[in-house]
Amino acid sequence: MSNDEKMVVTPWEVRGKVDYKKLIRQFGTQPITDKLLRRLRKHTGKLHPQLRRKLFFSHRDLDTVLELHEQGRTFVLYTGRGPSGPVHIGHLVPWIFTKYLQEKFKTKLYFQMTDDEKFVIEQNLNLQQTKKFAYENALDLIALGYDSTDTSIIFDVEDIALLYDIALQVAKRITFSTAKAAFGFQDNTNIGWIFWPAMQAVPCFIHKKLTGENLPCLIPAAIDQDPYWRVTRDVAEKLGFYKPAQIHCRFVPGLGIGGKMSAREPETCIFTTDTPEMVKRKIWAAYTGGRSTVKEQKETGGEPDACTVYQYFLYLFEEDDGRIKERARQCRAGENICGDCKALLTERVTDFLLEHQRKREKAKDIIQEFTMRHKTS
Ligand code: TYM
Repeated sequence: MSNDEKMVVTPWEVRGKVDYKKLIRQFGTQPITDKLLRRLRKHTGKLHPQLRRKLFFSHRDLDTVLELHEQGRTFVLYTGRGPSGPVHIGHLVPWIFTKYLQEKFKTKLYFQMTDDEKFVIEQNLNLQQTKKFAYENALDLIALGYDSTDTSIIFDVEDIALLYDIALQVAKRITFSTAKAAFGFQDNTNIGWIFWPAMQAVPCFIHKKLTGENLPCLIPAAIDQDPYWRVTRDVAEKLGFYKPAQIHCRFVPGLGIGGKMSAREPETCIFTTDTPEMVKRKIWAAYTGGRSTVKEQKETGGEPDACTVYQYFLYLFEEDDGRIKERARQCRAGENICGDCKALLTERVTDFLLEHQRKREKAKDIIQEFTMRHKTS
């Protein structure tokens, strides 16, 4: 994979160097402006690092949701996971951010585990496997510290009776030509996949069915999921709901060159279940913004913006803005070498994962409390 490749961003594939400004234009979303950040800050206090660093960079109707909130009508949050394998560090970015929003705005969260989606899309996975991954991935979500009172995990296959009537309402109003234009479906696409966007729309509207309350929904996710929201927004008002709002993040890059962290390239990807040895091996093999020799690095300095190791500090592993700036300055000035950054990142990721894995084990005792079966019984 290389940075010179043409940019491709779909829910299934992210390739090439991602131009986020171009995506805003192409997808017809809005940039998150400083004015909007100031408005958010009124509700949240200090902004989350992912907002301060513009890692969440684009939105649709976030201003509308805030306006309604200011008028006393709250909203629900919705996000999800396609359980095709273990969770990687990139998936955690929108989930950590969602938890922050949930705590600041005291909202309900619906989290969709799409064992059905991954079964119809991934040729080599059977339903038992995707259901197993759904359970395993839910442990990762819970390990982040979500509270079961306000968080419901929807396991699509198990909860289909709850979802199906809304999916039908949505499906009836999306034509094949709209779906083809949004998702690029071909004649050889299986029809499970073609129906799937109706299923991903359902949690935007589920709160009313469960409680009788018609509330807007805000979806934090990376921008790859955007085609789903475009088609869902088209039908929402026809069904008597608010158009779902979105807040989009950038992609945590893989440890290789270009593209997002993706389980399809496991050696460039840190999974939450990786051992310290695996973490070390992957980080030490990472693509950096450094020069080919230490001498050259000291003379000309490195390029933090092109460095995957630096991006990991930026996204997740350095909370302190001052220290992150200093790290970039030292790199540009040739004051540190890639080995220094790799060693520190290895230490931070390992510490984080050991703690995460401990919490993940504990999540097995409480996962039932998050399920729709438990909540609706
Ligand atoms: P999935 O499993 O591909 O991704 C789960 C979430 O992680 C985000 N993501 C990333 N974020 C930052 N850096 C990365 N490298 C990275 N890779 C993935 C995705 O945007 C997503 O938020 N069809 C969906 C499942 C789903 C869903 C949803 C996702 C159902 N309903 C609502 C978001 C919101 C999927 O396969 O996600």
